[in-house]
Amino acid sequence: MAAGKGTRLKSKHPKVLHAIGGKPLLAHVIRAASKVVPAGDIFSIIGHEADKVREAVASYGTKFVEQKEQRGTGHAIMQCRDALRGYDHVLVLSGDVPLIRVETIARVRDFHLAQNAAMTILTALPPDPFGYGRIIRKKKGGKTTDEVAAIVEQKSASPAQQKIREINSGIYAFSVPELFSRIDKLSTNNAHHEFYLTDVAELLTADKKKVVALPATDSNEVLGVNTRFELASLDALLRNEKARELMAAGVTVFRPETCVFDADVQVGPDTVIEPFVQLLGSTTIGGDCIVRSYSVVKDSRIGDAVTIRNGSIIDDSAVDNGAIIGPYSHLRPASQIGENAHVGNFVETKKTRLGRGSKANHLTYLGDAEIGEGVNIGAGTITCNYDGVNKHKTTIDDGSFIGSDSTLVAPVKIGRGAYVGAASCITEDVPEDSLALGRGRQINKEGWAKSKREELKSKAAPKK
Ligand code: UD1
Ligand code: CA
Repeated sequence: MAAGKGTRLKSKHPKVLHAIGGKPLLAHVIRAASKVVPAGDIFSIIGHEADKVREAVASYGTKFVEQKEQRGTGHAIMQCRDALRGYDHVLVLSGDVPLIRVETIARVRDFHLAQNAAMTILTALPPDPFGYGRIIRKKKGGKTTDEVAAIVEQKSASPAQQKIREINSGIYAFSVPELFSRIDKLSTNNAHHEFYLTDVAELLTADKKKVVALPATDSNEVLGVNTRFELASLDALLRNEKARELMAAGVTVFRPETCVFDADVQVGPDTVIEPFVQLLGSTTIGGDCIVRSYSVVKDSRIGDAVTIRNGSIIDDSAVDNGAIIGPYSHLRPASQIGENAHVGNFVETKKTRLGRGSKANHLTYLGDAEIGEGVNIGAGTITCNYDGVNKHKTTIDDGSFIGSDSTLVAPVKIGRGAYVGAASCITEDVPEDSLALGRGRQINKEGWAKSKREELKSKAAPKK
C-alpha cells in the first residue's frame, strides 16, 4: 500500500518517496518483498502522485494498481480485486514500514499457511504504542489466545484499549477468497471517515474465521513513518545497522554515529573510516583505504589502498588502487583517477582521466581532459574547456610537465614528454619533447627601485 498522501509529513512529495538510508521508503519494502516472491507477483498500490511513485520504483519490475481516490487502507485493497484473481493468498505490506526484513515476511507467510488462517497480523510491542492500531486478542477461560478478535485504531480506542501495548504493524497475510468476500462490508463510520483494512479482522471473526497474531521478534523493524521525526529515527536505525554490518565485515569505523552510510554501500576489510564521513548511493570502496573526516563519496568506485584525505567530495567517479585524494579535492562526475595518482588541495576535476602516477597537487581545474601517465600538473593549472557555448577537450600525453599557473585553452594537445613553462597561456598544440612558453618575457631594470625611493623621499614634505 503506497497510495497515501502522508499528510502528517507536511510535504509536497508523496510519503513513500521520502528516503531513509538514501532510498525511498517504498523501495525498501519492494526490495524485501521481491526476495520472498517474484517481482511480477508484487503489486504496488499507488494513487497520490502516482506517476512519480511509479517512476521511482520502476526498476524493480513490480506491477501497479491505481487507487485514484485515497479512502483508506481497506479501500486500497478493494482496488486489487482484479489483480489478485487466481491467487490463493496475499501478503499485504505498508509502503511506510520500511525496515521490514525478508525473514519476517517469509515468517508471516509460513505461519499463515501453517495456521490455515483467514488473516494473519504481524504485531509488535514497541516501547510507545501511541498512534498504532491495537490488537484485541480473544480470551479463552480468562487467558489470551493467539487469535484476534479485532483491531482498534488509536482514535477509536477506549482508555482501557489504549493501554494495550500490542500493536498492528500494518503487515498481514490474507486468504484471498476470505478477504474479498468481506471487504465490501467495510464502512467509513469511524474517526477518519475511511475504509479501514483493520476492520476486516472483526468481520472475519464474526464469521468464525481464523484471525491470528504473529508477534515480531524485534519491534524496530515494524516501525512506521508518519512524521518527519519518525523518518529521522528510522534513518538513524538503518544507518546504525549498516555501520554494524560494515564493521562486522572488517571495516574500522570510528564514531559510527557521526557517519552516514547508505544502504547499498560496500567497503572492503581493513579500510578505516574516520568520523563525519558520508558514503552514499552505490559507492563501493576497496580494502586498506583510509577515508578521513568530512569526506563525501557518492555513487563512486574506489579501489584498494586509496587515501581520501579530509574534506574531499567525490561524485560519480572512479579512483584506482593506491591513489591519494585531497585534502579538499572535488572529483565531479566522470572523473577517473589512475593507480597511484595524486589529486591534492583544492583541485577540481570533471569528465577527466588522470593516468597512472600522475599528479595534480594544488589549486587546479581539470575539465574534459585526457591526461596520460606520469604527468605533473603544476599548481594553479587551469583547463579552459568552455567557450561559453561548447565544451572542448584537453589532451596531455604521458610524461609531460605543465608549469604552475598555466592556462590550457581547449581544444589543445600537449605532446608526450613536453614542458610547458610556468604561467603560460597555451592556445596551440605543443609537439612532443618540446618546451612551450606562452608568456611575456621578463625584463629587469637595475637600480630602478632604489632611485624611485629616493625620488619619492625628496618630494616628501620635511617632517616638523
Ligand atoms: C495503519 C493501520 C494501523 C497500524 C499502522 C501501522 C489502518 C486503518 N490502520 O495506520 O492499525 O498500526 O498502519 O503502521 O489500516 N494507504 C493507501 N491508500 C489509502 C490510505 C493509506 O495506499 O487510502 C497506504 C499509505 O500510503 C501507507 C499505508 O497505506 O503506506 C498505511 O496508511 P497510513 O495512513 O499511514 O495508516 P496508519 O494511520 O499508519
Ligand atoms: Ca502509517
